[in-house]
Amino acid sequence: MTSAASRLTAARTAKRDEFYTQYIDIQKEVEAYLEFDPNTFRNKVVYCNCDDPFESNFFKYFATNFNRLGLRKLITTSCGGSSIAGAQLSFSEYLEGGGKPQEPNAVALEIEEVNDLNGDGARDIEDVRFFLQQNPHKRTRLLQGGDFRSEECVNLLKLSDIVVTNPPFSLFSEYIALLTEHEKKFLIIGNTNAITYQDVFPHIMANRLWLGCTNFNVGMFFEVPDNWEKFHHINEQTGKKMARVSTSCWYTNIDHGRRHRPLSLMTMADNLRYSSGLRGKSAYDKYDNYDAIEVSTYKEIPSDYDGVMGVPVTFLDKYNPDQFEIVGTLESSDPNNPYRTRWYSAQDQKDAYFRRFGKPGNIPLNMSGVINDVKVYKRILIRHRRTAKSSEELNN
Ligand SMILES: C[S@@+](CC[C@H](N)C(=O)[O-])C[C@H]1O[C@@H](n2cnc3c(N)ncnc32)[C@H](O)[C@@H]1O
Repeated sequence: MTSAASRLTAARTAKRDEFYTQYIDIQKEVEAYLEFDPNTFRNKVVYCNCDDPFESNFFKYFATNFNRLGLRKLITTSCGGSSIAGAQLSFSEYLEGGGKPQEPNAVALEIEEVNDLNGDGARDIEDVRFFLQQNPHKRTRLLQGGDFRSEECVNLLKLSDIVVTNPPFSLFSEYIALLTEHEKKFLIIGNTNAITYQDVFPHIMANRLWLGCTNFNVGMFFEVPDNWEKFHHINEQTGKKMARVSTSCWYTNIDHGRRHRPLSLMTMADNLRYSSGLRGKSAYDKYDNYDAIEVSTYKEIPSDYDGVMGVPVTFLDKYNPDQFEIVGTLESSDPNNPYRTRWYSAQDQKDAYFRRFGKPGNIPLNMSGVINDVKVYKRILIRHRRTAKSSEELNN
């Protein structure tokens, strides 16, 4: 990538780190866990570690619902220099020892008790200010800047049970690594592309991480700072600019009902007879380089096929770990993938290009499934659980 292109990508990524989650999206997601287990948050310490209390709806949601969820404690930490807090708040007024104007600073806020409110909760900045006046809380300046990786924040992480936030997209892999290292429960927003990251996918495969309850395919709208030029619409209620990120979803390791709902499927013969995507075929395609069949939509997963199947990542939205086992991904350069049947040489890739386009060139074939010289993208490998030896069995 050229340096100009990489600067552009970095700028875009930094901008996306300033996407703020809507209250309604947090409410919808969190409450779906309560349907499965009403005590999911009871007596738990919830930590929002990328959240300025004045700008974050995570703080507002958990503060407002503190008693209903039965929280033991709510901790939020903010990273210094947030654009919204900087623009709309005088932190010197908010922090103890204030008086002279100061730059916005990183703050830890801890709440262990919430008095009954007048019903409004803490929805906007004035509500948060009022909320903090009415409720006992501890607020501390974070001398290390509020980075979730700083010792100060990691010490708070160690005290917590469940981490809930929308962390910066650009630090997602590091973020997941920290939470799993400390064996924390979490409910966080990330980019759907992270599913196939080399340091994220193994957690999905081992059922240490899965998708949340909100449907993966819908994308999400986020509040963006006032100076954001490319926005989708203005929220009539909040007056905030909104931008859509079609590739965002919830990641969690907290159990929920949707992942235990079995997919209802047809047999292979019926799929070949009735599924529009398979019309005219007498058999499912097989990859040239993997011992697996191609299933281009979860609806066409045959109920009676015992082998390995390549399915789009959107399958994870329907993934029931009692019904299926995830055994790999086609987007991996792992030469030890047991289902790989072929590794293309440089010459193979040139030949494939020539066969397809009739001129010299190169198709990099090793990072995907391949059918008749055509790459098939973003597939994960699954098989029915009834035929699969569990990972534990394989390891013994
Ligand atoms: C995508 S925004 C989401 C903000 C908030 N969690 C929400 O959902 O509305 C990511 C937030 O993380 C903050 N941030 C960026 N880098 C950080 C870091 N290293 N540690 C902690 N927070 C960070 C940004 O200032 C920004 O407020």
